[in-house]
Amino acid sequence: MAKLIIKDLYVSVKGTSILRGLNFEMDEGETVALLGPNGHGKSTLIATIMGDPKYSVDGGSITFDGQDVLAMSPDKRSQLGLFLGMQYPAEIPGLNSADFYKAAMNSHREKPMALFQFYRELEKAYKEVGIPFEMNSRNLNEGFSGGEKKRNEILQMRLLKPRIAMLDEIDSGLDVDAINVVSDVINEEHARGAGILVISHYARLLDLVKPTRAAIIINGRIVVSGGPEIIKRVDTEGYEWIKTELGIEVAKEINPAMNQVSIGVCATREAVKNEK
Ligand SMILES: Nc1ncnc2c1ncn2[C@@H]1O[C@H](COP(=O)(O)OP(=O)(O)OP(=O)(O)O)[C@@H](O)[C@H]1O
Ligand SMILES: [Mg+2]
Repeated sequence: MAKLIIKDLYVSVKGTSILRGLNFEMDEGETVALLGPNGHGKSTLIATIMGDPKYSVDGGSITFDGQDVLAMSPDKRSQLGLFLGMQYPAEIPGLNSADFYKAAMNSHREKPMALFQFYRELEKAYKEVGIPFEMNSRNLNEGFSGGEKKRNEILQMRLLKPRIAMLDEIDSGLDVDAINVVSDVINEEHARGAGILVISHYARLLDLVKPTRAAIIINGRIVVSGGPEIIKRVDTEGYEWIKTELGIEVAKEINPAMNQVSIGVCATREAVKNEK
């Protein structure tokens, strides 16, 4: 079973430090929930794993299946089996959806797919995510509703059959029926053997995809990890208990508060000082 391993990762955006010594591991085939308050680095983490050039990696490593992910261009990361379902899918005027999907799928194979086979798979995927097949002739995400954009991300996951699918708030903007449809597709991908890393602020999606592990990012680091009971606790209590139980100050905003010293950092410093 291949592993995604992130070690001591430091990432900044436009000179602001966001991830600060983050460690995380997951197996292909696992479903893991990535939780944390707004602005603490969840999207930064998975965009960095996928190779978004907006984020600069200042230290640490990311490997998948023993390969150095950080040394690869985003297309190579996709070919390796990584997939990102975006929190805010971009509208790309002038790029026909079907052409985009065909190019993406063909880049994952040695020989291009036969056109009839491509359209057969495409039609099946549209049906599965519950959007009209005719939308394949429209420009990618252009003028799509919020929910249609999110279903479109799931459609891409279905077509590309990743080994690790990272889904960033894929439930935001989805109506109740759509959440059921989307979670069915996520569960089918999981049954096929994919690892699912799911970010969500809401219990509904997490109840349906049933992660077996959860990790919480605070101030750019994973500070809590464990079983699904963590999801329940965050849903009922929020994140305040982390401050009281772990002594970690949860910054209201990562920026500029991220640059301030937190209680947790102070405590560590004091401990190191006392040891000397
Ligand atoms: N271009 C930028 N310049 C400065 N700060 C930025 C920039 N882009 C992102 N950030 C900051 O990086 C921090 C982490 O953002 P990120 O999107 O990773 O948070 P998140 O945990 O996904 O939050 P949410 O739950 O709201 O989606 C935020 O404080 C954000 O404002
Ligand atoms: Mg986010």
